[in-house]
Amino acid sequence: MTNDPRFSIPSRVIADDDPLPGVKNVVLVMSGKGGVGKSTVAANLAVELRRLGARVGLLDADIYGPSVPTMFGICERPLGDGERILPLERHGTKLMSIGFLLEDDKTAVVWRGPMLHSALLQFLRDVDWGELDILLLDLPPGTGDVALTLSQNLQSTGAVIVTTPQEVAIQDVYKAVTMSQKVGIPILGVVENQSYFVCDHGARYELFGRGGGQKVADLAGAPLLGQIPLDLALRECGDAGHPVVDARPDAASARALASVTRALVERVAAANAAAGGLSIDRSGGTQRHLPIAR
Ligand SMILES: Nc1ncnc2c1ncn2[C@@H]1O[C@H](COP(=O)(O)OP(=O)(O)O)[C@@H](O)[C@H]1O
Ligand SMILES: [Mg+2]
Repeated sequence: MTNDPRFSIPSRVIADDDPLPGVKNVVLVMSGKGGVGKSTVAANLAVELRRLGARVGLLDADIYGPSVPTMFGICERPLGDGERILPLERHGTKLMSIGFLLEDDKTAVVWRGPMLHSALLQFLRDVDWGELDILLLDLPPGTGDVALTLSQNLQSTGAVIVTTPQEVAIQDVYKAVTMSQKVGIPILGVVENQSYFVCDHGARYELFGRGGGQKVADLAGAPLLGQIPLDLALRECGDAGHPVVDARPDAASARALASVTRALVERVAAANAAAGGLSIDRSGGTQRHLPIAR
């Protein structure tokens, strides 16, 4: 994967023992809630970043519910070079997922927490990610383990929080925001997904209500990066293994996702400028005694 001179982005702070020394930025895509579109957003951000000229990787950190194999239409066993695992590559993006290592797509991973922790660290350390401008991590729903493990092992650039506008979703997403703040992961911005639906006759329906994304952004003290409509093209392209931003760039959802990607690039640059010179906080955040249980 070559470096495109069109794309240049500043780097996060990389400590000597960072597991990803060649990766300029690590961006977590997260939410407290399942089914809000984290994987869909992560896959399209990755491919759109590549279209902008970035060298991109996507790590599927959802060990129990991996989506990257389906959303990229790829399920081969990755090769090793004797020392490290080589990521697969599709649509210009380097990919790793537990789904590539399972017997078949119906096999469940039955692990306790500690194995999850070590699997994740292996995906960071033992996969040959090479030189990347951005590695995106598609996180599982929930508020704890994975983000804590990450925050203790590397300095991420920050998190993108995905929500729908619905009240019942944002209640859970608020928790992801406060958890990120507690473990010292900066919030780069909020993406509101499934914001509205435009029917064939042009009428616009806000099926899940309105304003949820802005409320989450207000709590996070971060911008709303964009609103993605409910769109048949987005769902179809996701299921077909070809992210909509590349397969159907004129679709309404693709245009919204492209605009979110550009807003994210600006936020990554700003976050790195703001963090320049700050040292890594491995404590898992300042309020580490309560209420985080370890
Ligand atoms: N804006 C949207 N329009 C249409 N379908 C969507 C949209 N966002 C997500 N989906 C669909 O909803 C399902 C759940 O999305 P997914 O990205 O897997 O959520 P999560 O990773 O948060 O669990 C997927 O099948 C996806 O194709
Ligand atoms: Mg997912």
